[in-house]
Amino acid sequence: MKGLILSGGKGTRLRPITHTAAKQLVPVANKPILFYAIEALRAAGIEEIGIIVGETHQEVREAVGDGSRWKASVTYIQQEAPLGLAHAVKIAEDFMAGDSFVMYLGDNLIRGGITDFVRQFEDSRPDAMVLLAKVPNPSQFGVAELDGDGRIHRLEEKPARPRSDLALVGVYLFTGKIFGAVNAIKPSPRGELEITDAISHLIDERMTVLPHVITGWWKDTGKLSDMLEANRIMLDDLAGSAVEGNLLGDTQIQGRVVVGRGTVIENCTIRGPVVIGEDCRLARTFVGPYTSIGPSVTITGTEIEHSIVLAGSTIEELGGRIEGSLLGKNVEVRRHQALPRAYHLMLGDNSQVGIP
Ligand code: TTP
Repeated sequence: MKGLILSGGKGTRLRPITHTAAKQLVPVANKPILFYAIEALRAAGIEEIGIIVGETHQEVREAVGDGSRWKASVTYIQQEAPLGLAHAVKIAEDFMAGDSFVMYLGDNLIRGGITDFVRQFEDSRPDAMVLLAKVPNPSQFGVAELDGDGRIHRLEEKPARPRSDLALVGVYLFTGKIFGAVNAIKPSPRGELEITDAISHLIDERMTVLPHVITGWWKDTGKLSDMLEANRIMLDDLAGSAVEGNLLGDTQIQGRVVVGRGTVIENCTIRGPVVIGEDCRLARTFVGPYTSIGPSVTITGTEIEHSIVLAGSTIEELGGRIEGSLLGKNVEVRRHQALPRAYHLMLGDNSQVGIP
């Protein structure tokens, strides 16, 4: 069994972060989302992984390398444009060379992994299997309808009147039969080869498509609120504290807090769960629960909680509190003394600022 992780796409919903970076590399609890996918595949015993890459391929290649860090072998498959999930499957046919495979959307997080899903597939040997989860708002998802025998009977993309509350989570298990389907379907009205159409084609051809319903937490991390929730859930899983940096002056660490090497924290209160990367400098700052601070970040005279701050950013003397925020790489936010006393902003396209 092989793995196929989709790490191309446009990431329009996470702009401006995705103007310069792949959305799958945005860190959650200081680890890129994509790495959780690789770890989930490895935990299920999969060693050979193909990664679909698009415009941001350079960055993905640099972050993941040849996969040896995970004792995996990674092959990159270049997609010329985001032409759909089924298109990504289509261009992976040579790599799969007849093997069954797990397809995993690189922006999805599944707490609890996919090992049970893979085991069920190996035990029951259907033609395909889809991972499903019960959701309160199925019309915002791909929705699966089951027949009396517990097989998938129909799939619908964002139906106005959903026939079940079972949404497609971004993980699928396919045998080589999926290639016949992705080669048979035509692009949808939005111009993409849809994976739901390919699976529907398998069902029409009387192949067995089984569901596997997960009960744990999962998230498709397309937008800011999803990223923050994912960060909160993953930080909740922090096992304990590990402080490698230097704590100076009257610094208080409360709850589960991870501090990286070379980081200096002076006269701060850090209330976990919090992760702080390497080589940061924090002074006279309160870091509240559910905050992830990347490496080489400086924060002074500020309160921050329930936020993600990426590498190299600086926040100085805000006095007030930052909450529910995502700061990209090398962002600078400072209070200034110069006149006129006005906001001085340089914001990228699609940036969002809320001022109380
Ligand atoms: P989506 O979230 O559906 O698409 P997107 O990444 O373009 O994001 P947005 O809607 O914000 O513009 O994609 C799911 C995952 O699959 C994501 O990791 C990107 C990846 N993908 C590909 O690799 N190739 C593709 O052709 C498509 C459509 C997505």
